[in-house]
Amino acid sequence: MLDLMNVDYTTKIPNNVDLASDRQVLKALEGWHPGYIDWWKDMGPDGFQDSLVYLRTAVSVDPKGWAKFDYVKMPEYRWGVLLAPQEADRKVNFGQHMGEPAWQEVPGEYRAMLRRLIVIQGDTEPASVEQQRFLGKTAPSLYDMRNLFQVNVEEGRHLWAMVYLLQKYFGRDGREEADELLRRRSGDADSPRMLGAFNEATPDWLSFFMFTFFTDRDGKMQLESLAQSGFDPLSRTCRFMLTEEAHHMFVGETGVGRTIQRTCEAMIAAGIDDPNDVARVRALGVIDLPTVQKKMNLHYSLSLDLFGSEISTNAANFYNAGLKGRFGETKIDDDHRLTDATYKVAKMVNGEITMVDEPSLTALNMRLRDDYTLDCFKGVERWNKIIEKTGVKFRLELPHTAFHRHIGEFKHTHTTPSGIILDEATWAGQRDNYLPSGADGDFITSLMQPVTEPGAYAGWIAPPKMGIDNKPGEFEYVQIHV
Ligand SMILES: [Fe+2]
Ligand SMILES: [Fe+2]
Repeated sequence: MLDLMNVDYTTKIPNNVDLASDRQVLKALEGWHPGYIDWWKDMGPDGFQDSLVYLRTAVSVDPKGWAKFDYVKMPEYRWGVLLAPQEADRKVNFGQHMGEPAWQEVPGEYRAMLRRLIVIQGDTEPASVEQQRFLGKTAPSLYDMRNLFQVNVEEGRHLWAMVYLLQKYFGRDGREEADELLRRRSGDADSPRMLGAFNEATPDWLSFFMFTFFTDRDGKMQLESLAQSGFDPLSRTCRFMLTEEAHHMFVGETGVGRTIQRTCEAMIAAGIDDPNDVARVRALGVIDLPTVQKKMNLHYSLSLDLFGSEISTNAANFYNAGLKGRFGETKIDDDHRLTDATYKVAKMVNGEITMVDEPSLTALNMRLRDDYTLDCFKGVERWNKIIEKTGVKFRLELPHTAFHRHIGEFKHTHTTPSGIILDEATWAGQRDNYLPSGADGDFITSLMQPVTEPGAYAGWIAPPKMGIDNKPGEFEYVQIHV
């Protein structure tokens, strides 16, 4: 009898879904495996495929002690299929099937919708690995390099998770979609990834930290709402993915936190009171806070686009069908059908940004986005605490949700970060004050000099408070040349 808490490592593909007695799916996954390894070698971290990296590997889905740490060469990482344990008597918890037993097989009428949800989620996972593939070469320390690679192998595993669902539950179409996930490429002109933010460049480490803070957090929100799904295998998959996702956001939050910490300390030491004296701050070899703010403006606005249009019949259909719920669905005190409920949505009305009551069902993207914004806000306040403690007078702020949008209500509107509407010419003149300019990018790039000596850190970032797996400061997280 297979222990579903622990992972079977005797098969080529580690799993806790009893693949050994599911020959057909095992065969499909084994058939997909070589293409995945080819993709990893082509599009995964460039230049470090033979290095030994101190990585965690999931060995159990028990919340206590699910991972073990060891040196691994990335192409030999044990990617696997891990689902959170099945809950007894789980029900569909929202929509028109509320109260029915959760589905263990795909309901025929929702097959296309469900496949689409899984493919969209699946597409983001390899995309971020592709976006980050050159960053190892400019890592500010071995600690950061290891964290990058940890995030990368886990995004690879998230791809495995979605591919398992496609191959097990969607037959031939599922196998075709699984192949397509390895064919599309981030930023490719002919076959790009499906969502905008996943085709943007991640050119430097501040971008990487912003990406893991803002864009992986979109991932968290999407996984949270798919974890509510009435299709139980999807729910169980997403619940386990969320365990890994927490680390990605930790990397982002502490990465930005350490960057601003270092900037503030350098300013104080040099006696610079004015955070807007960009030239003097940059001369210290640290990233000035206004540029950090611009990077935030960029990554937050790109991530907001991932939630889709504020008003969406797709979102309503996914909810009615019981496929994708709200953030924290089962903890919300209402009827979980939303037939008569309304929700406040920001819209353009007569040229002004106005809050309008809309049916809650079609406003579900907006609601999830609001939950996301709140989650981001809390993180930004923790960054502000770091600045405040050093004595530097500066506050980071999330820009207005209408700022720099490409999807939804505000895609044809220009605003300042505080939400004041601008005409085209004013926007064009101000853009570089709100978003990173070419010169900002060049400056950041100039700081991206690799530091590979154990225990050493680039001058623009503070060391972490604690090592990974309680390792001491000089621990060699990556043995680059073995
Ligand atoms: Fe992921
Ligand atoms: Fe992630």
